[in-house]
Amino acid sequence: MIGDVSSETPDPTAQRKDDHIRLAMAQHAPQTVRDYDHVRFVHHALAGGDRDAVDLASPALGWPVPLYVTGMTGGTAQAAEINRGLGVVARETGLPVACGSMGIVLRQPEVAESFTVLRRENPDGFVMANTNANVTGAQAARIVEIMGADALQVHVNAAQETAMPEGDRDFSHWRDNIAAIVEAVGVPVIAKEVGAGLSRGTVAALRDAGVAGVDLAGRGGTDFSAIESARRTDSGRAYLAGWGQSSVASLLEVAGLARVGSDGGVALLASGGVRHPLDVVRALALGADAVGVAGQFLHVLTTAGVDALVGLLHEWLAEIADLMALLGARDVVGLRETDVLVTGPLREYAELRGVD
Ligand code: FNR
Repeated sequence: MIGDVSSETPDPTAQRKDDHIRLAMAQHAPQTVRDYDHVRFVHHALAGGDRDAVDLASPALGWPVPLYVTGMTGGTAQAAEINRGLGVVARETGLPVACGSMGIVLRQPEVAESFTVLRRENPDGFVMANTNANVTGAQAARIVEIMGADALQVHVNAAQETAMPEGDRDFSHWRDNIAAIVEAVGVPVIAKEVGAGLSRGTVAALRDAGVAGVDLAGRGGTDFSAIESARRTDSGRAYLAGWGQSSVASLLEVAGLARVGSDGGVALLASGGVRHPLDVVRALALGADAVGVAGQFLHVLTTAGVDALVGLLHEWLAEIADLMALLGARDVVGLRETDVLVTGPLREYAELRGVD
């Protein structure tokens, strides 16, 4: 076990982090929200390209691949072991990787190692620190420094907080706070949801606050409203399960929003409920610059180990390239030229939101 981070620590935040790992794994099951299945490609039998000519780079944030492991954990012994594994996986595959919320490090500096092991195992890769939107600019800068991070994820998780009896109830300062964080840290800031998606208006506000990227982190995968209810002995606020919109719905919302997407605008990252390489390609075709996965990769890491996750990620990258050749796209940007059909409830959502 890495470091001497006792899981007996009295800090309730640490206990919650282990609860999140346990309950996210218990939740790991076929998703009921299948918006991704309503994104279909028209098949053109002669449009295919050469697999060897496919370039997997994601230029928006300078990433070598359009796939990343998004923020999960830190702060306990179990979390340290997970971050060690994720650091090795990222080093072996080239995937950008993030840790979970580092706010606890400001109160308990002795747990820093459970996060920074991600950087230690992966000194040359793209590593993202993670924090909530309540920290000051100076605290955010300190978190980035502790991690030696290349970017900072700032999560906006109002639905999760509302599902938690001890959660925050004042979110009114988040937008201004994020602008202050952007000013204070010397690395790109990526604002993210944690599984409820971002709307067009939210992305526009985040853009105006100066973020370098947004992670739509939509519903359909890990569901924190359900997890927070499951941590309670009563039924809690189980009715909040499934709150929000999927990342493909969010991608449709933000299509065409000025200065959002690659070409010098806010990088558009999609995560939440991504099941396989076809889902990755679907999100990229709808305009995502890169696609993130959390719960599913954590499940493979904790049940099958580091080598299994490294093998899976190599398979995913190879299959993403195969699918790009099938669709005749030489690179991530080329995927946006493919013929995509949006069907079923996802189409209805887009129509109701006035996008098509
Ligand atoms: C998360 N997620 C998360 N996000 C964040 O910004 N800070 C955090 O501390 C955490 N913690 C966390 C713990 C665990 C165990 C999981 C599985 C996830 C949310 C994560 O980054 C992502 O937005 C959602 O999990 C949706 O992606 P998946 O899991 O559906 O691929």
